[in-house]
Amino acid sequence: MEGDRIRCLNKLLRALILVLTLLQYVNPSLSLGFKNISSGGVMRCIEREREALLAFKQGLVDHYNILSSWGREVHKQDCCTWVGIHCSNRTNHVTQLNLGWSSSPEAYSQSLQQKRHPQNITYGFQGKMMSPKLIELHHLKYLDLSWINFNGTRHPDFIGSLSNLRHLDLSFASFGGRFPSQVGNLTHLQYLDLSFNYFANVENLNSWLPHLSSLTYLDLSWNNLSNAPDWLEMVSKLPKLTNLTLYQCGLPSPAIHSTTLFNMNSSKYLTHVDLRFNRLTSSIFVWLSKTNASLVHLDLSSNQIEGGIPQSFSKLCNLQILDLSGNNLSGQLSRLRFLRQHKRVHFTGTASRALSVLSFQK
Ligand SMILES: *[C@@H]1O[C@H](CO)[C@@H](O)[C@H](O)[C@H]1NC(C)=O
Ligand SMILES: *[C@@H]1O[C@H](CO)[C@@H](O)[C@H](O)[C@H]1NC(C)=O
Ligand SMILES: *[C@@H]1O[C@H](CO)[C@@H](O)[C@H](O)[C@H]1NC(C)=O
Ligand SMILES: *[C@@H]1O[C@H](CO)[C@@H](O)[C@H](O)[C@H]1NC(C)=O
Ligand SMILES: *[C@@H]1O[C@H](CO)[C@@H](O)[C@H](O)[C@H]1NC(C)=O
Ligand SMILES: *[C@@H]1O[C@H](CO)[C@@H](O)[C@H](O)[C@H]1NC(C)=O
Ligand SMILES: *[C@@H]1O[C@H](CO)[C@@H](O)[C@H](O)[C@H]1NC(C)=O
Ligand SMILES: *[C@@H]1O[C@H](CO)[C@@H](O)[C@H](O)[C@H]1NC(C)=O
Ligand SMILES: *[C@@H]1O[C@H](CO)[C@@H](O)[C@H](O)[C@H]1NC(C)=O
Ligand SMILES: *[C@@H]1O[C@H](CO)[C@@H](O)[C@H](O)[C@H]1NC(C)=O
Repeated sequence: MEGDRIRCLNKLLRALILVLTLLQYVNPSLSLGFKNISSGGVMRCIEREREALLAFKQGLVDHYNILSSWGREVHKQDCCTWVGIHCSNRTNHVTQLNLGWSSSPEAYSQSLQQKRHPQNITYGFQGKMMSPKLIELHHLKYLDLSWINFNGTRHPDFIGSLSNLRHLDLSFASFGGRFPSQVGNLTHLQYLDLSFNYFANVENLNSWLPHLSSLTYLDLSWNNLSNAPDWLEMVSKLPKLTNLTLYQCGLPSPAIHSTTLFNMNSSKYLTHVDLRFNRLTSSIFVWLSKTNASLVHLDLSSNQIEGGIPQSFSKLCNLQILDLSGNNLSGQLSRLRFLRQHKRVHFTGTASRALSVLSFQK
């Protein structure tokens, strides 16, 4: 009897020890050996991910000491508390790496804002190389490396294997080389900004863009799309797109075949379209006539649009900002009068004949 009880207690004790050991494994802060962890005593960072981030830091020159919280010292161990890093509070995996503009010190981002031109920027970071260890961050959903000067180095291919990414911002990062069409692998992407880099001409939109069917935001400004006559057809395959910016891309006037165009499902939700400084002609209006009422902001300034404004414009009843300056529009401008009645339209730009004609009609 007594022996049975002891055996039973023994088992219980062993089970208890097992549970405690497991707990310790799950939450190392329970261990007495661990001290001085900055996030309220709970160590969250996963070691493999910390090492990947430190390797990534090695590839940067940090002029402003922005990453002073990133280190190996005991009190810096929890990478989840580092500047620019966010971890899942469920799994502790790193889900955000944000070293872009928004994470930079105030003074620095202000100075950037005044110099929005790649040739004139004082960068916060110099990118020597992008450590391939970054692929250890399998759970990354948000990656913003905008405004890190990679000085024309080639964009690393491994970005295509960060398959959980929702948000990718590499704008103003001065990457060069081939256009990174492997972003076509990132099928969960909702936000993609690759504007203002030095990539080679984009030729095969078809091979990657239509894969990104969750995209709501796309900015490819300053990439040379002059060899992509199908750009509009490809953009139109993105069913959820709301914001489209293709500023200064050498866009040719789209090849619009009415049959393909009218079978398109796109453009239902477009609110913001910025196609400034391209080579568009009035055929762009055919597409816009399909966008229906969703458009709020439309900028077609500095293109090669000639002639009148089509009747279909009167369907764009939610427009608040319209810029047609720097084109050669004439005739039938009275079709825009309905916009004025809504008193929500701002005509920006100065070189606009459209503007002056409308002013006359006031
Ligand atoms: C504990 O962390 C603080 C900063 O949070 C640091 O100043 C201090 O030196 C650390 N103490 C030890 C023993 O590491
Ligand atoms: C985890 O984070 C989410 C949002 O990121 C928040 O709503 C939730 O309250 C957090 N849970 C805990 C336990 O902190
Ligand atoms: C770049 O800086 C130079 C002077 O350093 C200035 O003259 C030029 O206008 C700037 N260009 C842009 C696009 O800001
Ligand atoms: C950027 O690259 C050029 C050569 O392409 C080199 O001359 C220059 O020193 C580099 N700048 C930096 C800051 O590394
Ligand atoms: C997607 O990734 C696979 C392997 O990870 C690769 O073979 C393929 O070329 C990639 N596709 C694109 C479009 O990058
Ligand atoms: C874009 O590419 C085309 C065709 O290769 C070329 O003729 C044009 O000069 C390029 N535009 C710019 C701004 O580099
Ligand atoms: C448009 O959507 C319908 C169903 O919503 C689908 O059957 C059709 O194939 C789509 N058309 C195109 C051109 O993607
Ligand atoms: C998308 O466009 C709308 C309408 O112009 C604007 O209010 C919104 O801020 C834009 N979204 C982003 C992420 O820039
Ligand atoms: C555009 O709006 C009209 C009614 O205002 C509607 O009948 C039509 O289905 C809409 N088209 C699209 C592509 O949403
Ligand atoms: C603008 O269009 C008119 C005809 O509508 C044409 O006579 C004129 O040459 C055009 N101007 C430019 C700068 O293309």
